[in-house]
Amino acid sequence: MEIYEFGKHLINDAGAFVRKRMLQDFKIDAKMDPNDLVTDVDHETEAFIYDRILEKYPNHRIIGEEGHGTDINDTEGVLWIVDPIDGTLNFVHQLQNFAISIGVYIDGEPYCGLILDVMNDNLFHAHAGDGAYKNDVRLKPVENTKLAQSLVCLNSNWVIKDEIGAAFTKVVKDARSTRSYGSAALDLANTAQGIVSGALFFRLHPWDYAGGMIILSEAGGVTTNMLGEEIDILKKDSVLAGNPAIHEELQKYFINDETFVSRHRKAHGEK
Ligand code: IPD
Ligand code: CA
Ligand code: CA
Repeated sequence: MEIYEFGKHLINDAGAFVRKRMLQDFKIDAKMDPNDLVTDVDHETEAFIYDRILEKYPNHRIIGEEGHGTDINDTEGVLWIVDPIDGTLNFVHQLQNFAISIGVYIDGEPYCGLILDVMNDNLFHAHAGDGAYKNDVRLKPVENTKLAQSLVCLNSNWVIKDEIGAAFTKVVKDARSTRSYGSAALDLANTAQGIVSGALFFRLHPWDYAGGMIILSEAGGVTTNMLGEEIDILKKDSVLAGNPAIHEELQKYFINDETFVSRHRKAHGEK
């Protein structure tokens, strides 16, 4: 429990750091794609978290989106997987609706998940086996729902993509409606707190889903890739998350679509 308690303090301190830092100017750069932005605040927050973990636990290992741990390719020991700002586009355009996301794994097993909705100061957290919480309130187990009566999170970018778009379009048609919060971590936290029933992504990185997967699982939800396969915490993959019933229903939209399956294999390989 010590690492979990430390993690909760750390993410709250990192949130306070971001709220203060964003009052000053910060630089915005584009990564490979002009719509994939990164700011000084992303880098500085990752450094803040990295330094604090290593100061307390010199033998822990850390993978961060902004460059830490690129040489890590096994899950031995205590591994922290950190997204210093998830929802950077929201951070840049809205100065709200972004999160800090952390997943901690011990010898490859989920240990704890932490997602801080920074501007609302809501902390979603879970220690494996002990349930999921929003601040001090335990989340109720997610309720099973049918797609036709559900809100699901999905980004419209996937709907307009060749080859995979058709399968996503069917989901959009059959769902009650869709939502996209602009932060995968918040999409997963919102699935865990039951205000949406599921979330679908054709490609996420470990730092996007590492914390959310643990929190959702502790709220009774299920996360796999979109073909229903187990996700390897060190790899990018598609993600299909939801209450158990909608997860099973949604999987069929993808595993029964040969074009989708072959495009998925091309993007993410064979399991
Ligand atoms: C992004 C957000 C977004 C998701 C993207 C991620 P970032 O993370 O989670 O919601 O659709 O795939 O890359 O770049 O803001 O940390
Ligand atoms: Ca992210
Ligand atoms: Ca990020």
